[in-house]
Amino acid sequence: MATRGRTTLVVGATGRLGVAVARALATRGDKLVLTARDDAKLAAISRDLAAPHGAAPPYVRADLLDPDAVETIVAGVRSEVGRVEDIVLACGPFPRTPFASLRREDLLRTLTVHAIAPLLLVQALAQDLAKANGSVVALSDAGVTRPYTNHAAYLTAKGALQTGLRALAVELAPDVRVNMIALGIVADPEADADPLRTHRLATRSPLGRFGTPDEVVHVVLALLDSTWATGEIWGVGR
Ligand SMILES: NC(=O)c1ccc[n+]([C@@H]2O[C@H](COP(=O)([O-])OP(=O)(O)OC[C@H]3O[C@@H](n4cnc5c(N)ncnc54)[C@H](OP(=O)(O)O)[C@@H]3O)[C@@H](O)[C@H]2O)c1
Repeated sequence: MATRGRTTLVVGATGRLGVAVARALATRGDKLVLTARDDAKLAAISRDLAAPHGAAPPYVRADLLDPDAVETIVAGVRSEVGRVEDIVLACGPFPRTPFASLRREDLLRTLTVHAIAPLLLVQALAQDLAKANGSVVALSDAGVTRPYTNHAAYLTAKGALQTGLRALAVELAPDVRVNMIALGIVADPEADADPLRTHRLATRSPLGRFGTPDEVVHVVLALLDSTWATGEIWGVGR
């Protein structure tokens, strides 16, 4: 693993996977800036991450649906840490949008949170990343290439994110690397309480089970460190 001590912006830092990524980065000595929507959750996670590592990492509250979210996050980065060197994109909801009732609004919201705002955020911080030979790692979804029902808006947005980030990998090369992870289903104690659903979903996977946040973190760290990879989409959880 490469020597770290870098400054990483974690977007979606209050989510199940975002928290796990932030914790792993803090543990290996990275500095963090956290962002998500919910102020109270951000404060709690920042406090939690501070315990073994001294100072509590700064955070910026921003709703990616707001047109000024990117400016808010960049202003927070400037005032809290000056600049960032890497970005992990782990944000956004997983809305159920049955196709029969899919609305234009559903598509606009999911595209904004999962694709438009993340792409504009990377653009806004691209010079920071370039100065540090930094990288972007984004959590995408295996459903982009193996779609499932009732999530057309989400899968459309993740597809847009993947295409957009692959384009950025070319635009920003060779100074910035941009990679993605196409995730299968990560175990969720609440959603997985239904044993029939769990069985049905898990049997679709040759490995016969859901993933764990730690297994996702492992791949995030590997891609942050993979200095000879850009524009790649690493599938896990098939
Ligand atoms: N978990 C899985 O099985 C799975 C599978 C495939 C792909 N993924 C992808 O992996 C990423 C993380 O998943 P997860 O399970 O950790 O999700 P999660 O627990 O639902 O967390 C989502 C995060 O995104 C933030 N967020 C949601 N809407 C936002 C908005 N409008 N503006 C700013 N932040 C917003 C949430 O912040 P607040 O808490 O402040 O609302 C939270 O930090 C997502 O991109 C997801 O699509 C996950």
